[in-house]
Amino acid sequence: MNLGVEMREQFPVTRRYKYLNHAAISPPPLFVLEEAERYLRNVSELGTEEVNRIEEDDFRSMREDVAKLIGASWDEVAFVPNTSYGFNFIVHGLDWREGDNVVTDSLEFPTVVFPWLKLKRKVEVRIVKPNVETFEDSVLSHVDSRTRVVAVSHVGFNTGLVVDVKRLAREAHSQGALIVVDVIQSVGAVNVDVREMEADFAVAGGYKWLMSPQGSGFIYVRKGLLGDPPFYGWRTSKNFESYDATNFEIESGPRRLEPGTIDVAANLAMARAARFIKENSSEVLQAVNDLSGYANRRAQEEGLEVVTPMRKRAGITVVMAPKNSELSRHMLANGVVVSPRGGGIRISTHFYNTRGEVDEAVRLISQWVRRSGQ
Ligand SMILES: Cc1ncc(COP(=O)(O)O)c(C=O)c1O
Repeated sequence: MNLGVEMREQFPVTRRYKYLNHAAISPPPLFVLEEAERYLRNVSELGTEEVNRIEEDDFRSMREDVAKLIGASWDEVAFVPNTSYGFNFIVHGLDWREGDNVVTDSLEFPTVVFPWLKLKRKVEVRIVKPNVETFEDSVLSHVDSRTRVVAVSHVGFNTGLVVDVKRLAREAHSQGALIVVDVIQSVGAVNVDVREMEADFAVAGGYKWLMSPQGSGFIYVRKGLLGDPPFYGWRTSKNFESYDATNFEIESGPRRLEPGTIDVAANLAMARAARFIKENSSEVLQAVNDLSGYANRRAQEEGLEVVTPMRKRAGITVVMAPKNSELSRHMLANGVVVSPRGGGIRISTHFYNTRGEVDEAVRLISQWVRRSGQ
């Protein structure tokens, strides 16, 4: 039995829907949900005893679970409530000089672009307009010696394109710039190795391909960066357990990146999911690749226009269709959950989906496109 079939019972959503919307929100499987639930129940019964038990190692084991999945070390990982917070943390954590620029692009999710606009008085924000075929060339053509940051997604939310981050990182570094990568659409769907891609920062919420509750998320900060974080709180202090407001010395470990209380339940669940994906990575990632390849091929066989390049895909397949919001509602009425994105329908399949579910999505899109063409 393959892993997807074996694990399908863990995803109650499959009883009701053909759920192909993991690039929006992944319903947590039961074993992930149980991790959060157990903690919350224990806190309800035991209060600080349970909280202190979990926090005893300063979340080191939770950090390790995430770090192992992304090829980082535990002290380069901190927990954030969402991707947008992680981006803002970086924006306000770097030193800026008049005339610096940031290079990003128009195909990004707004969170990759908007936080830099806060710097606009001092810093030029270059929003490149690339296309899918020549994405990296377009971005790089705007990088120069005054570029401080290149900000991109590893996988495009509205194209499904897997970006060659390593190429961008090398060029950025050669100009003295840093690279910030939004990995929310890649981690859990394709291999993410922050060292291999030479990322300086990576950020993701856990609620997409990591199949974790909203409120979970992480930031990867390469060793040596953000030694002095942009925000201070009780947890950024070295002797934080002394609760002495007259004595502040900055913490050097990853706790310096977490000014206050984190969402423990959500991040415990994310750490559990990260462990599962790491332990089963070849099967999970292969199944994601197979299903998106199947969706891409089936849509093309139906004569539909597919935005996502077959050879540079992760778990997302974007198929062009008119009146896409209406179509996604029509698909929902027929039990198929997708999102209208990028001028079409975004099908996003996780490892436990089936080819039959993809067939049904493609059939509905094809029928819609044929009818609208008449
Ligand atoms: C590329 C990308 N980044 C970020 C997000 C979500 O941002 P946040 O975690 O701040 O809600 C999404 C969600 O759709 C996304 O596709």
